[in-house]
Amino acid sequence: MEFSIKQSSPEKQRCGCVVVGVYENGKLSAPAQLLDKSAAHQLSDLVARGDMSGKAGTTLMLHHVSSIAAERVLLVGLGKAGEFASKQFIDVLRSTMSALQKTACKDASLYLADLPVKGRDVAWKIMQSVLIAAESGYRSDQLKSKPADAPKLRKILLGCNGKPDSKAQTALSQASAIAHGMKLTKDLGNLPGNICTPAYLADQAKTLAKQRKLKATVLEEKDMQKLGMHSLLSVTRGSRQPAKLITLEYSGGAKKQKPVVLVGKGITFDSGGISLKPGAEMDEMKYDMCGAASVLGTMQAIAEMGLKLNVVAVIPSCENMPDGAASKPGDIVKSMSGQSIEILNTDAEGRLILCDALTYTARFAPDTVVDIATLTGACVIALGHVATGLFSNDDKLARELLDAGDYSYDRAWHMPLWEDYQQQLDSNFADMQNIGGRAAGSITAACFLSRFAKDYRWAHLDIAGTAWKSGKEKGSTGRPVPLLAQYLIHRAQTAK
Ligand code: BES
Ligand code: MN
Ligand code: ZN
Repeated sequence: MEFSIKQSSPEKQRCGCVVVGVYENGKLSAPAQLLDKSAAHQLSDLVARGDMSGKAGTTLMLHHVSSIAAERVLLVGLGKAGEFASKQFIDVLRSTMSALQKTACKDASLYLADLPVKGRDVAWKIMQSVLIAAESGYRSDQLKSKPADAPKLRKILLGCNGKPDSKAQTALSQASAIAHGMKLTKDLGNLPGNICTPAYLADQAKTLAKQRKLKATVLEEKDMQKLGMHSLLSVTRGSRQPAKLITLEYSGGAKKQKPVVLVGKGITFDSGGISLKPGAEMDEMKYDMCGAASVLGTMQAIAEMGLKLNVVAVIPSCENMPDGAASKPGDIVKSMSGQSIEILNTDAEGRLILCDALTYTARFAPDTVVDIATLTGACVIALGHVATGLFSNDDKLARELLDAGDYSYDRAWHMPLWEDYQQQLDSNFADMQNIGGRAAGSITAACFLSRFAKDYRWAHLDIAGTAWKSGKEKGSTGRPVPLLAQYLIHRAQTAK
């Protein structure tokens, strides 16, 4: 989908559809008033007759409105003017896009970016418009023999009253880079485990490196053996697919600037291993590489933006399968850090691959490390599918990530990482065990990781509830690419 911003009058805009808002008391938004004036009050008549209540979420499509250049006019209900805030704006965009996608429109002009939204500027409204419009045009039909009906809508113009400034233009191009990154993340997430293997992810990283001038390196199992990554290797023992440790380096900043490292969990299928998962919905464990996919999507986005920042991606990737050679409950392994781990449940494998990746990460002399993982079912119980779980050993970093999540509307919630939880990982036989019992499952998982991230500023994002949707709308969401990209945009603005 192509996007542009233009100072323009809705009544003169020649396109498939112009979109304007109506508040719940029947008050037309400013662009709607302009259309109404040109169209001899057709719109206000319609509102007076009660065909458009202005209630949030409602839409009304009109055809051949007199003296309007566009083929169609879409009225969208904005709800009460006094309550029009971030969520309402986003809901309006979603209903707008779903109405537009049902038509044969090839191009549409949205006059929504000037609507006042509490605490948000035009740049924010542009960013959200782009992300939501791109989302509405996404299809996962790579593997269907007959592709689904391709979306007809190709072009979106964001109309505004004033001349768009450079901030608005930057927001547009950054949002479109984020949308492209999200598409890559979704495509990878939606691919099944028999196609999206660790080797496939490694190839994706290499392709990205070629396209965008990054540096890709792929370590094989023998390399990991030499490094002493026995925790990571214990997870892949039951699999026929070779494990890979993928790194991707983007050097947009000054040479001596310490990088931000993004570490993404890349389990391409999580059967649970010998601690086998129940069969129902086990297919969804193909999404257990969404941390890795979001890291690749973010790398692509920041490379497209050309951010002046150094960022490294580290992706430990393997399958978790049962087999005669697989790790067994009770097995004890030595991690690269030297700490020994008692594997009480082979299904708590994410932390076992991440701990070695976190130790490995120290070699990049990072300023900040953020890991992203579909780590625990407990996080889904705690926060549902709305917020990503955020844990950190640094409150300032936590704040920055929360703010990035709030701005991109890809929100996270700060969870505790108090010392008091650490004892749940005590083992009788090793330095620690890999599970901490049923209580506070997402916190003890984060506590486990924290033991391998002592040497730098670190945060952990548990995206188990936010990386994909189940049920009829099953599919990867592309989260938390917007949060990560926004965090890095902010970092680049303030980087020394
Ligand atoms: N990949 C899962 C976490 C997960 C579960 C994500 C459900 C999304 C939905 C992870 O590897 C896992 O199996 N975690 C276990 C940990 C437990 C054994 C301590 C879990 O959450 O059940
Ligand atoms: Mn698991
Ligand atoms: Zn897993």
